Amino acid sequence: MSTSSYGFSALLFFVLVMSSLMATFASNFYQDFDLTWGENRAKILSEGQLLTLSLDKISGSGFQSKKEYLFGRIDMQLKLVAGNSAGTVTAYYLSSQGPTHDEIDFEFLGNLTGSPYILHTNVFTQGKGGREQQFYLWFDPTRNFHTYSIVWNLQKIIFLVDNTPIRVFNNHEAIGIPFPKNQPMKVYSSLWNADDWATRGGLVKTDWTKAPFTAYYRNFNANACVWSSGTSSCSSRSANSFSDATWQNQELDVMGRRRLRWVQKYFMVYNYCNDLKRFPQGLPAECKRSRFL
Ligand SMILES: *[C@@H]1O[C@H](CO)[C@@H](O)[C@H](O)[C@H]1NC(C)=O
Repeated sequence: MSTSSYGFSALLFFVLVMSSLMATFASNFYQDFDLTWGENRAKILSEGQLLTLSLDKISGSGFQSKKEYLFGRIDMQLKLVAGNSAGTVTAYYLSSQGPTHDEIDFEFLGNLTGSPYILHTNVFTQGKGGREQQFYLWFDPTRNFHTYSIVWNLQKIIFLVDNTPIRVFNNHEAIGIPFPKNQPMKVYSSLWNADDWATRGGLVKTDWTKAPFTAYYRNFNANACVWSSGTSSCSSRSANSFSDATWQNQELDVMGRRRLRWVQKYFMVYNYCNDLKRFPQGLPAECKRSRFL
């Protein structure tokens, strides 16, 4: 065998191995999730590549991950309910169990056709939330899939939309604020009716003539530590960035900080850290410590 054909077969072998690994590691909803609510309103389609949730007058629907994670980077692509989605809420979040649970939330509040969705975020630590920040998006989230990610390490939690950081929750254990670090979380999502509060504070009701309402999910990726029988193993399970563990000490670089400021300046609708009316005795302690809460 000549050296060049040897080189070629080595390359071919490499490509075959890589593509089979990629196939193994590509997201598959059958393998990663259980449909937990709403009977046939939750569906896995296209051989596990697509998941849909729907909501009608009788029920919403939901799913949850089979695995529990303790730190990592979790990505999912969502395409939200199109048209008149007023009154609907699509929640996508990480949560542990029990009364002192930790939780990291994305919630998408629907709206009338042509009016903007609100992306609502929150962080619960040891059962305590009340840390809402809300944003408009800089695109129409119902036209295409967009990537919503959570980076969660010991120093901070970063919420990202299409890789743009929109929110950072820093570890403030030094001043006595609990940080999610020892309760493993599952990934959850659900689509439900919340027309008593979601759209313009409950003023706009769900138009049931438009039901069923449908949201779409694809390309789940957990580059994360999986929790199983009391231990955590941090494999990277990623189709595109094979051994990417940058989430473990991810900080915002100059570009990231600039993007974060841009989002917070032009797209932020609500920030609990600015709500003096709500906290007449003084803002929560973590608010004073960081410009980016
Ligand atoms: C819906 O649109 C109105 C403007 O028409 C806006 O004030 C509101 O923030 C939007 N979003 C929600 C969830 O109410």
